[in-house]
Amino acid sequence: MPTQLAEKQNVSVAPMGGALGARVDGIDLAQPVDAELVASLRDAFLEYGVLLFPGQSHISPEQQIAFARLWGEIILTPAPDACHPDYPEILVLDTKGEKPVTDLWHSDITMEPVPPLGSFLLARTVPVGGDTIFANQYLAYDALSDGLKQALEGLRAWHTGDVFASQGGYDADALPRSLHPVIRTHPETGRKALFVNTVYTTCFEGMTNEESRGLLEYLCNHAVQPNFTFRHQWRPGDMLMWDNRCLQHFGVADYGSQPRTMHRVTIKGDKPV
Ligand SMILES: [Fe+2]
Repeated sequence: MPTQLAEKQNVSVAPMGGALGARVDGIDLAQPVDAELVASLRDAFLEYGVLLFPGQSHISPEQQIAFARLWGEIILTPAPDACHPDYPEILVLDTKGEKPVTDLWHSDITMEPVPPLGSFLLARTVPVGGDTIFANQYLAYDALSDGLKQALEGLRAWHTGDVFASQGGYDADALPRSLHPVIRTHPETGRKALFVNTVYTTCFEGMTNEESRGLLEYLCNHAVQPNFTFRHQWRPGDMLMWDNRCLQHFGVADYGSQPRTMHRVTIKGDKPV
């Protein structure tokens, strides 16, 4: 059942899946959003991890950027050639028929010492296919045994750009490497989440890649099992925001040579603790 947001007659939030995700209807992101509504939306964001704002094809790049700014400081992309020509705040994800490099489970750029809070993705051109799947890492943590939770408490892991570089043709040595806790406490909800992923997490602190592999593979597979996921089928004009601190995502590469263009704005996060 949709929930009416406080004092807002026409704005409602309705869950889209059992594990995460909610749809927000009744907001036109071309119009200013007042502070009271932003506070209600933030509560929904923290509860559901993904918020979908459908029907936003008409909004301009400036309006997408202005809405994102309500949530925090915008991070400029480290790949300037992929930026919107007039708006460096917007990363243009345009596969132009090439195979994307996002079809692996990951949280965004966790090799950074301060990975993003999350992103706002606006679907401009949508193929048949090209869904995005999200996995709730609170649920992944909660489902671990008490014994494994205890064993992981205080353990840290190295996150590097090695896989990202080999997939995208970048120089891995030029990318940052960071140590992050394997169990992360969300800075706003206080909930614990599993914080390892297939793309960036390389090994546990003080251990070799080989020594780490068995447990790391177990955790990465455990983290994305179907019970923890929500799959979004894009429509043009969908604006979707996700919490990179407690979710992983996977871009399904099933659309061959069809064009797919998405505009992404990313917000600065906190150092994982
Ligand atoms: Fe991503």
